[in-house]
Amino acid sequence: MKSKIILRGLKDTEALARSLAKWAGPGKCLLLSGDLGAGKTTLTRYLCSSLGVDQRHVTSPTFSLIHEYRGEGIDIAHVDLYRLGQGADVFELGLDEYMERGFFVVIEWADFLEDILDCVSLRLNITLLSDGTRQVEMESTDGNLAETISAGGD
Ligand SMILES: Nc1ncnc2c1ncn2[C@@H]1O[C@H](COP(=O)(O)OP(=O)(O)OP(=O)(O)O)[C@@H](O)[C@H]1O
Ligand SMILES: [Mg+2]
Repeated sequence: MKSKIILRGLKDTEALARSLAKWAGPGKCLLLSGDLGAGKTTLTRYLCSSLGVDQRHVTSPTFSLIHEYRGEGIDIAHVDLYRLGQGADVFELGLDEYMERGFFVVIEWADFLEDILDCVSLRLNITLLSDGTRQVEMESTDGNLAETISAGGD
C-alpha cells in the first residue's frame, strides 16, 4: 500500500510524527530515506518526543550508528546508516536483536540496508521539492496504515 503527503513546514512534520507515534510499537520498524537534509532526523526527533523522549536527547547517530532512547512504555533504537554506505548488514548492526528485544527501530538512510528486516515496517522517502515543501512517499507492510497516517495541512 502506497500513499503520498506534502509537508509545508515543521508543523506538518510534527503532525506526521504524532500520527506515526500512534502506529509505533515494539518490534516495528520505520525505514527513512531521502537526500542529505531532507528532514529524516527532524521527523525522528518529533516522533521520539511524541513517544515521551526528551527531544534534546534525539540527535543524529551518524558516528555512533545507533542511539537508544527510553520513551513512555517504549524503547527506541535510532539508527543512521549514512557512514556505512551501501551494503549495511542487519546482523552486524544487531538490528534483529533490537527487534527481538521489543525495541521500536527507526533507521535513517534505510536504503543502505543490504537485507530486508523481518518486521512490520513503514518506509518513508522524503524529497525536498523546488518550492521548499517536502514530499513524503509512504509504503507499508502493515495493511491498515494508509488510513491512520496523516499530516496536517495536506
Ligand atoms: N518540514 C520541514 N520544514 C522546514 N524545515 C525542515 C523541515 N524538516 C527539516 N527541516 C530542516 O532541514 C534541515 C535538515 O534536516 P534534518 O537534519 O532532519 O535532515 P536529514 O534528512 O536528517 O539529513 P541527513 O541526511 O544529513 O541526516 C534542518 O535544518 C531542519 O530544521
Ligand atoms: Mg539525519
